[in-house]
Amino acid sequence: TTTNAIRHYLQFSDFTADEYGYLFDRMAIIKKKFKTYEKHQPLTDRTLAMIFEKASTRTRVSFEAGMYQLGGSVVHLTTGDSQLGRAEPIEDSAKVISRMVDLVMIRTYEQTKIDTFAAHSRVPVINGLTNEFHPCQILADIFTYIEHRGSIQGKTVAWVGDGNNMANTWLQASEILGFKVHVSTPSGYEVDQSVAGLRSADSYQVFKDPMEACRGADLVTTDVWTSMGYESENEARRKAFADWCVDEDMMRIAQSDALFMHCLPAHRGEEVQAEVIDGPQSVVWDEAENRLHAQKALMEFLLLGRL
Ligand code: CP
Ligand code: NVA
Repeated sequence: TTTNAIRHYLQFSDFTADEYGYLFDRMAIIKKKFKTYEKHQPLTDRTLAMIFEKASTRTRVSFEAGMYQLGGSVVHLTTGDSQLGRAEPIEDSAKVISRMVDLVMIRTYEQTKIDTFAAHSRVPVINGLTNEFHPCQILADIFTYIEHRGSIQGKTVAWVGDGNNMANTWLQASEILGFKVHVSTPSGYEVDQSVAGLRSADSYQVFKDPMEACRGADLVTTDVWTSMGYESENEARRKAFADWCVDEDMMRIAQSDALFMHCLPAHRGEEVQAEVIDGPQSVVWDEAENRLHAQKALMEFLLLGRL
């Protein structure tokens, strides 16, 4: 068999602006069906395997609930309770698992692991977070922005904090969807344009001072100082990131109607002040809920194409 025709979702750059336009419209339709209890089961008899090598609340619940709501079922695997933790080669795991299910979601460490899995999979593979990227989160975040403020094209997103998987994915999204990212990270934790694989540096600008990154922004967003897999750096990071806490002054220097987002889980008093994440500009709960609607649209698209 050939794997050439299979569409995977391994990075935000795997889809075009036109496909995102379709998906954002589709998310709104799917969300409305959910809110009005309209049965929508296009994935009846389809099975999703979810492989978690790192912890998760939102990604697990949204993929699992979402797949059941679409009429399908799920298999949940972790490193500890499968042969994945006992060094079965990724290639072999991909060949076996993808003969039994219709779709695979993976949360793991290096992007190369999910790339290898996908290269040996007979079915579409979705990135549920790697060290480098978190495309499903940005899918939900941009849908949330659109719901609250309309198109994100031409807008400015301020990224305050670590040059991590979320930051890399925002950079990819900015190039595809035509908005600007103002990035401010402590030194030593910068974004790396080559990781994001950008064609140019036109869609983002780096600021030393996080306040300057927030000036005039339409959306201010941040993430944990220490991502999963980097726990041994926790103490050094707490020191380095002390000035990268999104506070009310940063929100005040942004546009007066600026939104605040955080992929969660959050640490109040570290990367964000409680007054901001629990304040009137924060849309973090909509953002979390939209993981469900965004991923249902994504799974439907990967398995059935445009409807
Ligand atoms: N934002 C996010 O991916 O959350 P989980 O780690 O809980 O899945
Ligand atoms: N950057 C964080 C996101 C968690 C959803 C991490 O990788 O741990």
